[in-house]
Amino acid sequence: MIQPLSVYVHIPFCKKKCPYCSFAVAVGQGHYEKDYLAAIDREAMSYGARVSTVYIGGGTPSCLSQEGVEYLFASIFQRFTVVENVEISFEVNPDSIDRKKAALLKKAGVNRISLGLQSLDDDALVLLGRTHSADDALRALGILREAGFDNINLDFMYGYPGQSREGVRKDLYRVLALGCEHLSLYALNIEERSLFFARRVEVDNDAQGELYGEVCGQAEAAGVYQYEVSNFSRPGYESRHNSNYWQGGEYAGLGLSAHSHIAGERFWNAAALPEYLQLMKVSGTARVGGERLSGPEKLVEEFLFALRMNKGCDLGALEIRFGSEMPMEKKETLESLIEMGLLEEEGMLIRATPRGRLLLDEIAARII
Ligand SMILES: C[S@@+](CC[C@H](N)C(=O)[O-])C[C@H]1O[C@@H](n2cnc3c(N)ncnc32)[C@H](O)[C@@H]1O
Ligand code: SF4
Repeated sequence: MIQPLSVYVHIPFCKKKCPYCSFAVAVGQGHYEKDYLAAIDREAMSYGARVSTVYIGGGTPSCLSQEGVEYLFASIFQRFTVVENVEISFEVNPDSIDRKKAALLKKAGVNRISLGLQSLDDDALVLLGRTHSADDALRALGILREAGFDNINLDFMYGYPGQSREGVRKDLYRVLALGCEHLSLYALNIEERSLFFARRVEVDNDAQGELYGEVCGQAEAAGVYQYEVSNFSRPGYESRHNSNYWQGGEYAGLGLSAHSHIAGERFWNAAALPEYLQLMKVSGTARVGGERLSGPEKLVEEFLFALRMNKGCDLGALEIRFGSEMPMEKKETLESLIEMGLLEEEGMLIRATPRGRLLLDEIAARII
């Protein structure tokens, strides 16, 4: 039987563009909501597959109107065959949720929330250009709990200019005290297409490296265990949707700039809202690029994805699945990365060491 798919739906609308953000977002264009959701429905129609995880991300999905949320979920349940224990995640920003919307999400079938809290320090939230305060985030979390959500992720950022070690520790301490089921801990990255990049904001990579070890230790000490480079959860609350990405699974991406991986092919949609809407209107697809990797290329790619996960990769099992071996020169590179202390072997598994997890880009560059 064909494995069920994961579905990602991108909702690009945001109140304001955060200065660190490089995602495909549309600010002040909420009037396109109806057209946009109709385009998503049209994309969904072309799949008709069984689905085991759905992730509504953005942008800011919680900016959607009540009618928008209702339309979106009616479309998902009509166009896909959703398995019984489906995981449905929905990203919420602290200042775009109220009791009514939380109840609506619960009723629609959402069973996992990702709250973009970022920090509980008001000065940090101003520096990060967020449109909410720490109190707004606490209020949002209260509303979500009250609505019955018992699987909540919090996004937390650290390592921005001027932030002290003690500052990170205290901030994370308050966040961990909220007792959520899942945490995503991100060191601020200066992305090329962001306002911070244009303003030449710089981060100290060495300091971030040290902070990384500390935040990982702090989360684990609070019973939230690392299972991926930036992701931590209480046992049993790992994100099934994201784990599918890291395990090389198939997924369909709907909406602006969304990527898909189906039947060995990777393809992606237009990244600008007018182009996406126009393409959907004219041709019923917004696909603007794609690639099909060869067997060995795909094997290496899957291996690299698996290195993101703490449990690592069973290279032998991967080779059997692909019916081909990791090329000899790449195996030699793996040996040298093990000698350098960036990778380690345990039985059949190869995984990144704590130091290696910080240098995954470099590891990937060497292997590729
Ligand atoms: C899809 S994004 C945004 C979700 C939601 N709109 C929000 O702002 O909370 C998911 C998360 O990625 C993280 N993120 C985005 N840009 C980042 C950057 N440049 N460096 C580090 N983390 C980043 C933030 O923690 C953010 O909450
Ligand atoms: S960080 Fe979130 S709210 Fe801010 S611009 Fe990006 S997607 Fe929108």
